[in-house]
Amino acid sequence: MRTRRRLTSIGRCQGRELWLAPSILAADMTALGAQVRTALAAGATWIQADIMDGHFVPNLSFGPLIVEALRPLSDGLLDCHLMISQPERYIDAFADAGADLITIHVEATPHVHRALQAIKARGLLAGVALNPHTPLSMIEEIAQDLDLLLIMTVNPGFGGQRFIAHSLDKIRRARQLLDARGLQHVVLQVDGGIEPDNVRAVAEAGATCFVAGSSVFGAPEGIAAAVDAFRRALAAT
Ligand code: DX5
Repeated sequence: MRTRRRLTSIGRCQGRELWLAPSILAADMTALGAQVRTALAAGATWIQADIMDGHFVPNLSFGPLIVEALRPLSDGLLDCHLMISQPERYIDAFADAGADLITIHVEATPHVHRALQAIKARGLLAGVALNPHTPLSMIEEIAQDLDLLLIMTVNPGFGGQRFIAHSLDKIRRARQLLDARGLQHVVLQVDGGIEPDNVRAVAEAGATCFVAGSSVFGAPEGIAAAVDAFRRALAAT
């Protein structure tokens, strides 16, 4: 993936490089900087901020200020997952705050193509996300414009949910769709209920980036050990 950021892979599967993307929704907000530094030091250099507006999803999280706060901590990749309605309204705010990648939901605006153009016009990587009920056909006309495709494996809004099992089939079909179009460079990201016990199956289905909140920042064994557990789980693929 074209990025000026220093990214550390968490493994490889079927010739594809893999990345772990801890999501800060599950972090201890009173120690966010220290926890993100620990994740970065453990080799998880792709950090995701779950942005929620209480309208597109039934939860309210944080905005550009959190990206501004995290930016100085990392020369890794800051990924903003906008779970907000009409996300085009906030592209400049997140770009100005230091985001490297912005993902919008296809369900959140009638102007997806225009929003992707606006993200790329700011020099950022552009992604789209599909909720569990949303068919892959929704991205057929914009697949070639993507740097990243996010398949939600839970209903967005909250961390700590269980992986929706039939997502594996959707991930396989998304992989087939991208490969059939020669779009192997597009990152296939998954988000929701990802943990060391299921990440290998998700990688073998074709995903290349794994958003993990509870299983990293909420791991009883600690953040560094959790990142290492993902690395070990993927080493066998
Ligand atoms: C849901 C969020 C979560 C989060 C990951 O809207 O996007 O999926 O990032 O949470 P865990 O890893 O705890 O399922």
